[in-house]
Amino acid sequence: MKERIILAIESSCDETAVAIMRGDKLLSNAVSTQISMHQKYGGVMPELASRLHTENIVYTLDTALKDANIKLEEVDTFAVTRGPGLIGALHVGLQAAKTLALLYNKPLIPVHHLAAHIYASEFVKPLVFPLLAIVVSGGNTEFVVMKKHLDFTTIGETRDDAIGECYDKIARVLNLGYPGGIPIDRLAKEGEATYKLPSPALTGYDFSFSGLKTHVINLVNNTKQRGEEINVPNLCASFQKVAIDAIIKKGLKAAQEYKVKQVVIAGGVSANSYLRSEVLAKFPKIGVDPAIPPLWCCTDQAAMIAKLASYLYDEKVFADYDLGVDPNWEIEDFREF
Ligand code: KG4
Repeated sequence: MKERIILAIESSCDETAVAIMRGDKLLSNAVSTQISMHQKYGGVMPELASRLHTENIVYTLDTALKDANIKLEEVDTFAVTRGPGLIGALHVGLQAAKTLALLYNKPLIPVHHLAAHIYASEFVKPLVFPLLAIVVSGGNTEFVVMKKHLDFTTIGETRDDAIGECYDKIARVLNLGYPGGIPIDRLAKEGEATYKLPSPALTGYDFSFSGLKTHVINLVNNTKQRGEEINVPNLCASFQKVAIDAIIKKGLKAAQEYKVKQVVIAGGVSANSYLRSEVLAKFPKIGVDPAIPPLWCCTDQAAMIAKLASYLYDEKVFADYDLGVDPNWEIEDFREF
């Protein structure tokens, strides 16, 4: 039997990405990142992101097809990130996918970006249910429980900023560049957690990262005004510890309450070395298997969109060609579009 070929497109934030899968095999995974173009603003400029996606999409599509040695006529279905994400950025990928699906008269699969981040883990090992997914990225911080494939329940989330946003804005005030996660992660290893900072933990499995972010920004500005020095490695270590410890503590509690067998970490912040080592050290002690995706599939790419699309294809989760984006798409509503 001929194995189906999925071409997936991702453009929800600052990466234009196209991946191609044949059956379970990833044939190509082209990513064109815009990070250097947003660096001078200390964060993603939404309007600029949309324009750069428009410039990069054809080249990225071409690269993915060449790497996979596949022609567009051979593709069985086109999958695309429909949300959540930046509205203008999402539109570019969606228009490309719709055009291709219409042109080749093939099914169009709308994919939820966060659900796809969880499925990225399947490039390493199969998902084992029930599982807890800790989704931590530049735009989201969510605890999701899955009892089976394509079954998502959000049990907790941030009520304001995402943890990645907190990393990026703290890095900006410390002049560490964008994205802030990597330099803070590196400097934290050279420092000690000597600063007392407020925990982002709220009741249940919810978080608030904006209080922690503002506290650190004010601390830096006030210290500078007094003409005193900030110990940057110590501040990075203190921030990272209070932020990640809160995630780990709630994660362990949720894993026990929901009797999960596996914990999956997903999203850009899951590249964090302290988060990874804490998950590896603490979850096996309560009998929970950690699924830690390799770094290449932690940040945004389209391989994860193709991976989740393969499950959606089997369930015929197809959209009409007049599909629109949804920047605030809830994970539970992944079949509604
Ligand atoms: O999932 P992602 O690629 O895209 C968005 O949701 O935007 O996540 C990007 C986020 C950024 O906030 C970046 O600072 C953070 O992931 N990040 C990290 C690390 N590497 C990237 N945060 C903490 N530690 C890291 N090593």
